[in-house]
Amino acid sequence: MATNVSAAAAPPGFGSTHRKDTWWVGPLLTALGFGTFIVYSTFRAFYNAEYLVDPETGFPGSAHILSPFYSPLIALPASLAFISPAFLILWAPGGFRLTCYYYRKAYYRAFFWDPPACAVGEPRKDYNGETALLIFQNIHRYFLYLALIFVCILSYDVWLTLWWPNEDGSHSFGMSMATLVLATNVVFIALYTFSCHSLRHLIGGKVDCFSCVAMGQTRYDAWKGVSKLNKNHMLWAWISLFTVGLADLYVWLVASHTITDIRGVAAALANADTRD
Ligand code: FES
Repeated sequence: MATNVSAAAAPPGFGSTHRKDTWWVGPLLTALGFGTFIVYSTFRAFYNAEYLVDPETGFPGSAHILSPFYSPLIALPASLAFISPAFLILWAPGGFRLTCYYYRKAYYRAFFWDPPACAVGEPRKDYNGETALLIFQNIHRYFLYLALIFVCILSYDVWLTLWWPNEDGSHSFGMSMATLVLATNVVFIALYTFSCHSLRHLIGGKVDCFSCVAMGQTRYDAWKGVSKLNKNHMLWAWISLFTVGLADLYVWLVASHTITDIRGVAAALANADTRD
């Protein structure tokens, strides 16, 4: 059946619509989700404490467990101690999400109502696209390069949680709940990053014939993989937002002695494998 375009289009006036469904639920949930994360992450960045668990911070015998909000670990001189290292770090993953193709759609709708949803009247009548100030959104591809580095940094943090110091200075292999929490976060951060539209374009863009270019088969396979992940980019975006906040919260609770990190697999392997 042909779609009646004129009936589906928004009537004039902000918020006016012919839609009968609960179109406002999506933008509302998006605003609540983003709002909660922005408030929490900003608070934690200003908090500037209880983001590291290791022998140096009052946890003798513990592996090195670092919050993703403060990774990589930056040691500022005492004269700059008033600056939270989180602010020197979070601009990169924050910029990656701010300029993400999915997030742009989501926050344009949830926070700027521009438009609030398909076929719903918006506050202004003209449409300029992402021009003028919004031209900065084009730097997304550069934030992607930084995000790929952060996948490596956060993976290294998981590796560090696997090595527990012994009294003689060596290290034993072990695993705790922190390992699982940080590893889960890295997996979803990687799924979000590797499903990026810019990465898909970087691998397969401007290529009409894969077999005609260098490493064509490899690029084709990689492009197919990224395309497959890209179908669920929104899902990875939300889950990774949740896991990164949860990972920070877990480290905060352990670092503040509110809960104890449960060390599991270590017992069986403690004396089996050591690292100097
Ligand atoms: Fe969303 Fe690149 S498009 S991370």
